[in-house]
Amino acid sequence: MSTYILGIESSCDDTSASVICDGKVLSNLIANQEIHKSFGGVVPELASRAHQQNIIPVVNQAISNANIDKNQLNAIAYTRGPGLLGSLLVGSSFSKSLSIGLNIPLIEVNHMQAHLLAHFIEDCGEKKPEFPFIGVTISGGHTQIVLVNDYFDMKIIGQTLDDAIGETFDKCGKMLGLPYPAGPHIDKKSKLGDYSKYVFTKPKVDGLNFSFSGLKTGFMRFLEKEKSSNKDFLTSELDNVCSSFQNTIVEILFEKVMLAIKQTGINRVVFGGGVSCNSGIINKFKANEKTKNYLSFFPKFEYTTDNAAMIAMVGYLKYIRKDFSSLDKGAEARYKF
Ligand code: KG4
Ligand code: ZN
Repeated sequence: MSTYILGIESSCDDTSASVICDGKVLSNLIANQEIHKSFGGVVPELASRAHQQNIIPVVNQAISNANIDKNQLNAIAYTRGPGLLGSLLVGSSFSKSLSIGLNIPLIEVNHMQAHLLAHFIEDCGEKKPEFPFIGVTISGGHTQIVLVNDYFDMKIIGQTLDDAIGETFDKCGKMLGLPYPAGPHIDKKSKLGDYSKYVFTKPKVDGLNFSFSGLKTGFMRFLEKEKSSNKDFLTSELDNVCSSFQNTIVEILFEKVMLAIKQTGINRVVFGGGVSCNSGIINKFKANEKTKNYLSFFPKFEYTTDNAAMIAMVGYLKYIRKDFSSLDKGAEARYKF
């Protein structure tokens, strides 16, 4: 008999719902919140209000697109954290109510685990990674290197000490006058520029940890200096600046991941999170597979950014393990695994 799981994701500014059947995605809907663009970043208060408006229509549509009746659902999986508390509360309260209403189990999901386990969605990539692997979660809120021994046996072995990688893209992009979120815009402009034109200092951080705040400050000073001597600097040099900046980030990430491979002896590298669709990162890691002797795995584009299919997938993996959640557990902004 088939197992139908409804996944609900509301950790940041996307309200998403998905139905999967035995690991196969039947529907995956995402309502983006355009309102944050005019503020140049996510405004938590506005995000939770928008989740309130979106959640019922998005869930209804996900069930209808999956061509099933809600009474066929076997369980509801929801993002318990980490994320913005007000946003998480909307998804968790809604999921609890629906699980009571339908009298089916509730399953809590860690958002960061889900970014990595998205690879086990049937149509996520050409091949599935084997355990153990090195997980690299790169998003607007996180930058982590994770030792993944099994589905739910994960240990963070490196992380950012300050800004996340996506946050760095967004903040530096804002300095360039690019719209929020700036990551995709920088990526697009990078393809037209010369990556070797400008050199930005890479942070010196021991071990597998990262730091991006120094790069951000250095970037700000660089722009101030260039703009003071040439008013049209940004107009004429935008592509080259984007390309050089992106290349610096790619190099930082590449060096850390190579160190993780060396330290762990594991040579499968699995990416997840919004930044993992970055073309510079994908090209660099794919191009060096043979010479450096590792395999890299990138999710299909729709499973890189925040989506409920990855939440439903973890829900399915937990459902077959009968790993259910109690109704008295609350949303957790700093939920750890
Ligand atoms: O995983 P995600 O959708 O949300 C969080 O959990 O944060 O990641 C969003 C982040 C944003 O910072 C966005 O700028 C970045 O992913 N991003 C990119 C690209 N596409 C999205 N960064 C660099 N290059 C891209 N192509
Ligand atoms: Zn995310």
